Amino acid sequence: MPATLIIGTQWGDEGKAKVIDYLSNDMDIVVRYQGGSNAGHTVKVDGNTYVFHLIPSGILYPDVICVLGAGMAIDPEAFFNELQSLELKNIQYKDRLRVADNAHILLPHHRLMDQKSEENLGDNKIGTTKRGIGLCYADKVARVGIRLADIYTDSFYTKRLPHLIENKNILLEKIYGIEPLKISEVSDYLKEYAEKFQKYVVNVSYYLNMELGSAKKVMLEGAQGTMLDLDYGTYPFVTSSNPTTGGAIIGSGINFQFIENVIGITKAYVTRVGEGPFPTEIMGADADHLRKLGNEFGATTGRPRRVGWFDVEIIRHSARVNGLHSIVLTKLDILDSFESIKVAVGYELRGKRISYFPSSDYDNIRVLYEEYPGWNEPIHECKNYGDLPKNAKKYITALEKFCGVPIKLISVGPSRESTLVKNKS
Ligand code: IMP
Repeated sequence: MPATLIIGTQWGDEGKAKVIDYLSNDMDIVVRYQGGSNAGHTVKVDGNTYVFHLIPSGILYPDVICVLGAGMAIDPEAFFNELQSLELKNIQYKDRLRVADNAHILLPHHRLMDQKSEENLGDNKIGTTKRGIGLCYADKVARVGIRLADIYTDSFYTKRLPHLIENKNILLEKIYGIEPLKISEVSDYLKEYAEKFQKYVVNVSYYLNMELGSAKKVMLEGAQGTMLDLDYGTYPFVTSSNPTTGGAIIGSGINFQFIENVIGITKAYVTRVGEGPFPTEIMGADADHLRKLGNEFGATTGRPRRVGWFDVEIIRHSARVNGLHSIVLTKLDILDSFESIKVAVGYELRGKRISYFPSSDYDNIRVLYEEYPGWNEPIHECKNYGDLPKNAKKYITALEKFCGVPIKLISVGPSRESTLVKNKS
């Protein structure tokens, strides 16, 4: 059975959670493949609001199994807090949760280091969520990380852990000015969580490929977005994992040939949290208006998001990097009250037209815009694509033409019902 992959095409916060929720109904398994509790996925169902940071929102469907993949940086405290909030809302999850044994464990000192590291960078700070994500992945790449599988072996506690901590303490004390770690405390912490995690741990690649082989329907869910990808985003103002298609394959361990449907989630305008280039950014009153209408404040940190006009070059980049088959256009209703709407249709870099998203020199980009008339009426009650005002359809058709990817679903409100199907196939 083929797998479906859901990717954020911009700088995250495209409204993936709502789309994932909408599509989960039809799935047997939903897998989150990268990132950690830096992500904040908000879903509104039957008047209730759920915010997920680590656990796939598919958990809201009683028959869906949710998997935390190998590409994730899992903060045990955040994970068990999230389980507790599911319990408070009477959501049964116990037999429906799996965690990859080769996912990395994020420890409290990663969070402290993230905060210090941002302070030390001063004006060059990344604007991270301070959840320790980059520091956990740095350990992974330096091969001094700790995976779930490790904490179930005796030799890890007697041989590897003391050595890891001795080395980490040099860094913590000398560079970061953070209290050194005590081997016994880290050991106790990990043993406690080893027990708590035990019932969820699986060999993720084996598990998922077996399930796909036996005709189970699997959805892979990314956090953040393509422009925050460590390799294909606006480096260094990126997250430390790969939210793109490549990251989905690595982070889930599934045979890539199972992936038959890559869906790009794209907001009808653009937002970004944190520092870094943003060619179509809007400032001033228009920005405040858009931010307020779209409630563009971070679900994880509460920070106001930067906002801007739709940027076609970003989506073309995303389509190339991810192999998008289709787009779901989200939050179109937020543009209801705009007289006219700008679309960035291309860039000039140092006076020359380019047709790719450059890897640097963003100060010398000149954005080329086209302007589209607004529709000036509320669309959140539209039930079918045909119900949309003429100018809204014109805007959608223009985006589709410029991006070169079909737009198949359009979201006009936060609830599951406010989702319009454009092309059935
Ligand atoms: P980190 O992932 O916390 O290291 O932050 C790195 C960059 O990614 C910062 O600009 C964050 O604001 C951004 N970021 C991380 N997670 C999200 C997300 O879920 N949505 C939007 N931006 C995010």
